[in-house]
Amino acid sequence: MIFVLPAYIANATPVISVKIIGRSTPLDRGMYAWDNKRILGDGKTVEGLISGILVGALSGIPIYFLMDIFRNVFQPLVLSIGAMIGDILGSFVKRRIGLERGRPLPPLDQLGFLISSLFFSYILYGLPAWASLDTFAALLVITFFLHLSTNYIAYFLRLKDRPY
Ligand code: CTP
Ligand code: MG
Repeated sequence: MIFVLPAYIANATPVISVKIIGRSTPLDRGMYAWDNKRILGDGKTVEGLISGILVGALSGIPIYFLMDIFRNVFQPLVLSIGAMIGDILGSFVKRRIGLERGRPLPPLDQLGFLISSLFFSYILYGLPAWASLDTFAALLVITFFLHLSTNYIAYFLRLKDRPY
């Protein structure tokens, strides 16, 4: 879980940063796709993307120096970019199947960012030392429930309009 912490942080940061920045520019610039639905929707913003990548990558620097789990200091950056790409692809899929921004699509909402993050890390750095079918399965299960519960907490703290 420490290995994927940058991905978790990258995924969670936009919820808070967009509130702090107080300004949000949709990544799709309000444009519609061939199906007359938004390409991504207002839930994916430039500010959220940049802050997520930055905070996720920075969070990995102390981990890199304290623990021997990353191949180099840029691996957390790769994990963060991978997480944001997965999240954006998830919204693209949700819009194509007709789900409005903010509607839930489990388990894509909870796991898409993680799988994409690990995929990009794998492409660049290969399998991490902890990799096995068991640890991967455990990570998916833990992340699913962690994502659900942290989103409910964000909802109670009025950081999110919806609990998912
Ligand atoms: N967010 C953002 N930019 C991103 C990702 C997230 O600004 N690249 C912010 C948005 O305010 C978004 C919130 O984080 O509403 C929660 O993200 P998420 O649940 O992924 O978005 P949804 O609003 O649920 O939209 P979608 O249905 O497209 O997933
Ligand atoms: Mg959502």
